[in-house]
Amino acid sequence: MKKSLFIILSVVTLAFPAIGQENSNTSPQSSGNIAYIPTRQDVVKDLLSLAEVGTNDVVYDLGSGDGRVVIAAVRDFHAKRAVGVEIDAELVEESRANAVAAGVQDRVEFIHGDLFKTDFSAASVVVLYLGHAANLDLRARIFRTLKPGSRVVSNQFGMGEWKRDKRLDMRKPFPVMLEARWQNVFRTNFYVPDFDDSLNPNNDQRELSLWVVPAPVAGVWRGKMRTESGEGELKLILHQDLSGLSGSFELQGPTKLAGEARAFLWGNDLICPLLPAPPADMFRDMMYLDGCVSGNSLRGSLKLNSGKKQVEWLAQRDKVDFTGIWEWPGVSGVPVQLKIERNDGKLVAMYTDVSRDDAQHIPVSDIYDFGGEFYFTLLLGLEGESLNQGHRRQSPQDGWIVGKAMMDDNTLKGTLGFYPYPEKTEPPSKPSPLRNWHPLRVENSAMLGK
Ligand SMILES: C[S@@+](CC[C@H](N)C(=O)[O-])C[C@H]1O[C@@H](n2cnc3c(N)ncnc32)[C@H](O)[C@@H]1O
Repeated sequence: MKKSLFIILSVVTLAFPAIGQENSNTSPQSSGNIAYIPTRQDVVKDLLSLAEVGTNDVVYDLGSGDGRVVIAAVRDFHAKRAVGVEIDAELVEESRANAVAAGVQDRVEFIHGDLFKTDFSAASVVVLYLGHAANLDLRARIFRTLKPGSRVVSNQFGMGEWKRDKRLDMRKPFPVMLEARWQNVFRTNFYVPDFDDSLNPNNDQRELSLWVVPAPVAGVWRGKMRTESGEGELKLILHQDLSGLSGSFELQGPTKLAGEARAFLWGNDLICPLLPAPPADMFRDMMYLDGCVSGNSLRGSLKLNSGKKQVEWLAQRDKVDFTGIWEWPGVSGVPVQLKIERNDGKLVAMYTDVSRDDAQHIPVSDIYDFGGEFYFTLLLGLEGESLNQGHRRQSPQDGWIVGKAMMDDNTLKGTLGFYPYPEKTEPPSKPSPLRNWHPLRVENSAMLGK
């Protein structure tokens, strides 16, 4: 191996890409400098097994080092194609030579470039060994560009509050990217949902994680269903964020039922026990939906607990439009705004806090379109700070905003949480509880004319 291993502790600032830009001209600097530490060969196999790589897969290794993951994907797992993206020219050369030596040069490609600017939408599997911050910088793009059902595997690092679907432990913990533990913008704020628990002695850095990209299923779904007692309409309301799903249902018709929908998703496949509330008998009247989502249609079968019969259910999602300028009172009571637009069908948003002396229009790059609902996170007040020193509150507005909302009767309804960074001297302050969020649609933008 020509390239020696190195560790760089860098001092960087956070920069947000401009609104709507998928391929900005600069890497998100919150990811810092990402060192070259190759994944051990046995762990390469574990990672690719965890992703269940097979003959139909196109595998991308973002930050591909000497090409070992890319080569193993086609040589050992028979992937259709594998692509490595690597910023270091020497490592790219070495990877190409390694591919020739392995006899797989026709099925692999090594792109010499910046992974944060490279289009990886052709991937069915993405492999990452980068760092917490890099994973967080990438996750919204993963949602936006990969098809539901695509898999993402990561060596050592998590995705914040995007809960993994599977985990595998390595046999031996070392070597690991130790320095990346400190390149985490959440490390000093114990209350943010993304808090890095890698300092917890129970987390020994040996974990490999798998995420399956979920279909956007949030919203109100309605469809007729025919049972022995006649025709009814089933309405299913699903809420979705990075942590999972919750929901409720209502059955109207000869039989009336309402209750909780306990949904689980794997790509496009939705399974959902429907548990009626009293006075119904939960066990007798429970239904079980097994469905598949395709855009705004949901086709499935409903098994009724009371009988052995199964009925077909085809539902459509109510159309919603989040676009507009939404305003609500910020932390200091002064209005703040979120401007939501669609760019090539994708949701893009800009946040403005007019109370700040340095009021800026901040692109919300970590935003997720779940169909009938959206979710976003936004770090405020990190500009010019060192990741390695952690983040301290300079103004009352500095902190992490996490919001999600659904359209209901042409208004946005959801929850918003604000997690302030700690003060310089005191331990982290308690998080303000999630509060109901009902921003108003306004005509005039604080962003216009600024
Ligand atoms: C921890 S190593 C992982 C290498 C390889 N994926 C493996 O598992 O063996 C991270 C790699 O990402 C590369 N890298 C860092 N920043 C990058 C960027 N912005 N674009 C592309 N590659 C990058 C580094 O040069 C390094 O080779």
